[in-house]
Amino acid sequence: MRVLSGIQSSGECHIGNYFGAIRQYVALQDKGEGIYFIADYHSMTSVRDGAERRRLVREVVLDFLACGLDPGRSILYRQSDLPEVCELTWILSTVTPMGLLERSVAYKDKVAQGLSVDHGLFAYPVLMAADILIYRSDVVPVGQDQKQHLEMARDIAQRFNHIYGVEILKLPEPHILDDVAVVPGTDGNKMSKSYDNVIRMFWPQKQIKKAVMGIVTDSTSVEDPKDTRAPIFQLWSLFADQADREEMFERARRGGVGYGELKKDLLKRLLEYFGPMREKREDLAKRPDDVEDILASGARRARQLGAPVVAAAREAAGLGSGS
Ligand code: ADP
Ligand code: TRP
Repeated sequence: MRVLSGIQSSGECHIGNYFGAIRQYVALQDKGEGIYFIADYHSMTSVRDGAERRRLVREVVLDFLACGLDPGRSILYRQSDLPEVCELTWILSTVTPMGLLERSVAYKDKVAQGLSVDHGLFAYPVLMAADILIYRSDVVPVGQDQKQHLEMARDIAQRFNHIYGVEILKLPEPHILDDVAVVPGTDGNKMSKSYDNVIRMFWPQKQIKKAVMGIVTDSTSVEDPKDTRAPIFQLWSLFADQADREEMFERARRGGVGYGELKKDLLKRLLEYFGPMREKREDLAKRPDDVEDILASGARRARQLGAPVVAAAREAAGLGSGS
């Protein structure tokens, strides 16, 4: 089974990304051949500063490696190290109906928010389809928000195969990462880089403390019964086992749990949980050449898998002088 997924390098990873995606990528490494990449071409639709993009890619790679992606087992690479994906994007874009892209919820949302949109954003799903189809991936783990993009990849693959009468592109199966509830941010909305409500696991401890202490809570006093659906309880639960959780929730519903106590305990658990990963990250950050080597070797391995698919698509489409 070939598992592929990408994450946009539009910001440094936060605990929502960790529990919603990265942790599951790490677990999937035991189930099949993993291919993971940092989507810096995609980040061009939002990050407009070249130096910042490079910096963000490095940060996200360090996050992935620190969290347990093992370059000995999985392929980890930077999307732009494989420009072949852009050629496949063009080939696919010529078989992608406008109507398909016009139905994209992510695109329509941006338009509805009044953001200025460009062709890159409109064509985003075609690039994503190329990312997936270039490796004949079997399974693509993504969050619920990316499901439509995967369905588009399937449609686009089918159209290419049909139009050129080939079976080159393989229809991927979505593997929706929905066993983890959406991680709330410090303001109670979904934790997201776009909302300034994140807790980043590898921030300096002081900054993490400030963010944890700033999690929204209601104004009930210690003795009052608490609503255990509140964001503070959801965040705390990420770091507690079943038994601890039951005990805490029981106590909270009776009354007698203060938010101050809960925040302190969350901070302690969070720092403990990510402690070993933080050490690993600090060590890796001192060896930027080794990290670049990992990406270069990842790109080489990715190219070995992807180049034959692009060559076959070129051949089917009659590009170049032919073989
Ligand atoms: P962001 O919303 O911060 O921009 P992305 O859209 O880049 O994050 O998401 C990268 C991955 O992390 C996706 O698979 C997404 O489903 C997951 N993810 C992002 N935020 C959360 C969250 N708050 N809870 C659970 N998973 C999340
Ligand atoms: N669009 C995805 C996101 O924002 C990132 C991504 C790009 C991706 N290409 C992909 C995910 C291919 C899975 C497969 O999260």
